[in-house]
Amino acid sequence: MKRACVFIFMLSSLMTAVSNAQTFTPDGMKWEPAPSGHVAGKDNGPESGVSQGNGLHFAGSDCGICHNPGGKAGNFPFTVGGTLFKDKAGTQPLAGGEIILKDVTGKVISMTSNEAGNFFTYATIASDPAKGPDASSSGTWTYKAWVIYDNTVRPMVTIAPVGGMTSAPRMSCNMHHGWQGSRGSLSAGTFPTLKSYPSSGVSFKQHVLPILKNKCKACHMPGSANPVSAYGSTTFDYSGGLDLSAYTKNSKSAKGVADVVNVSSPADSGILAKAKVGSTHAGGEFMNAGDADYNAILKWIGEGAKNN
Ligand code: HEC
Ligand code: HEC
Repeated sequence: MKRACVFIFMLSSLMTAVSNAQTFTPDGMKWEPAPSGHVAGKDNGPESGVSQGNGLHFAGSDCGICHNPGGKAGNFPFTVGGTLFKDKAGTQPLAGGEIILKDVTGKVISMTSNEAGNFFTYATIASDPAKGPDASSSGTWTYKAWVIYDNTVRPMVTIAPVGGMTSAPRMSCNMHHGWQGSRGSLSAGTFPTLKSYPSSGVSFKQHVLPILKNKCKACHMPGSANPVSAYGSTTFDYSGGLDLSAYTKNSKSAKGVADVVNVSSPADSGILAKAKVGSTHAGGEFMNAGDADYNAILKWIGEGAKNN
């Protein structure tokens, strides 16, 4: 009896691992809800909660340059570290955000950002068999990622490897998500982009475009997406064919900003509906109805959504 139970347990965990591996594709990632039921921050580095110590230094820089075996901070070889901000430009750190990773076996890793926006963990990440022959190389340790803050969830639409260094397995989100990086700083929440907006005469170039650059452009810039061929035949475009860095569509996109506004019913515009908290949007949640950014876009559409 006992043996049968153990056997059933092993079989069911094996099946969970297999089904998880099957959905471990960029398309599977697109709509996967953030894991829940764990304790937020359960995998924070050891000194968190005791003293933040050096955990407050070098916010926004690539932690892995020093925090790798043999590196300057080799005594503290994080597997993952990074910094969370309120904005893409990385000017305002965001404390208390949760960064969740899920590996190919379904293991959930949760970190919370400290006062400097920094987060880091020593938790290990499993190899993804689909990633090639050398399972011991950290380049095969893949994960899905989400950032949660104040009831907003933003998924990372791609599946990322830990890092390319076989001898020094480590990963810093800041490698790509820095203010200089192609995707901008890692950001969360519904913070306003500009300090203020006019109550009328909202300009596309001066007001709307900065919001779209801050919150949307990382994905909605067709042609800049990497075809994720390493994950099999599925090619994932972050943009959904929509270019939010341009007023009109262009040779690389199916739609531009002008194609996702509804001048006769501004609040029903795709550009607002998809960005709103609670929407079904592969890119996640960015603003509440009534927020400054939301109202500025709403006003601009109500005034005719001009290319002004
Ligand atoms: C330029 C090198 C460098 C960079 C970049 C760097 N660190 Fe450090 N870090 C160090 C050194 C050196 C120590 C102290 C190591 C020792 O005492 O042996 C340290 C120590 C720490 C500690 C204390 C170790 C512990 O767990 O108690 C934490 C936490 C930490 N760093 C977090 C980070 C984070 C997060 C980042 C990225 C945002 C980062 N560091 C970037 C060099 C660096
Ligand atoms: C992390 C990537 C990502 C970010 C950032 C992002 N999106 Fe998206 N968005 C997607 C993907 C992928 C799709 C296609 C799947 C879907 O419809 O959800 C999409 C679809 C859309 C659509 C529907 C496209 C259509 O053809 O009508 C709109 C509108 C949209 N997003 C608006 C926004 C706005 C506005 C922002 C910023 C506030 C934003 N998105 C930020 C990834 C992103």
